[in-house]
Amino acid sequence: MKSASKQHRSRHTDAAEIAGVPESLVPPGVIQPYGTVARLPNSLGKSAARKSAEKLNQILADTMTLRDLYKKHHWQVTGPWFYQFHLLFDKHFNEQAALVDMIAERIQLLGGVSIAMAAHVAAQTRIETPPIGREDVSVQLSRLLNAHEVIIAEARKQSAVVMDDDPGTADLLVGDVLRTNELQTWFLAEHLVQSGFSEPQE
Ligand SMILES: [Fe+2]
Repeated sequence: MKSASKQHRSRHTDAAEIAGVPESLVPPGVIQPYGTVARLPNSLGKSAARKSAEKLNQILADTMTLRDLYKKHHWQVTGPWFYQFHLLFDKHFNEQAALVDMIAERIQLLGGVSIAMAAHVAAQTRIETPPIGREDVSVQLSRLLNAHEVIIAEARKQSAVVMDDDPGTADLLVGDVLRTNELQTWFLAEHLVQSGFSEPQE
């Protein structure tokens, strides 16, 4: 039986080899570089697994950003609808946090490496970083709707791309990511109407 270090070395070497990453560029202690896919007995081809992991990591980075945007707005919301938005934003935060875990663990079970830390997420996400200060609730809602739209568009597009080779990922993207984001968008948009704000233009 291989020692733990030899098993790690083997996995690292396979992953680096698959991704074409020179081992000299892999930081010490890293057993699998980001962007690589280790071989797992899941009857999924290397390129299909790598493609799914890459698409999922983009959606993961965007989902982690949206999750944190919800907590920021949960804390900083103000105005006559404070209590309603305070609760709604936290409910959506928790649902996005559940999605983050599902997406990250799907990347790992495909043999990939999930993006995890805030600094790496900030570099990867396509969702605009908000100011550190407090914003009006109408601006908060617009930011959230824009972020949802980014994720919805990507989930729809990528679910179709991976459907043939990796229906498990397509199922996650449609059944969990897409439907959760569509539902949360509905709740935000209805509040916009009730608050007298304009709905976002196409
Ligand atoms: Fe709270």
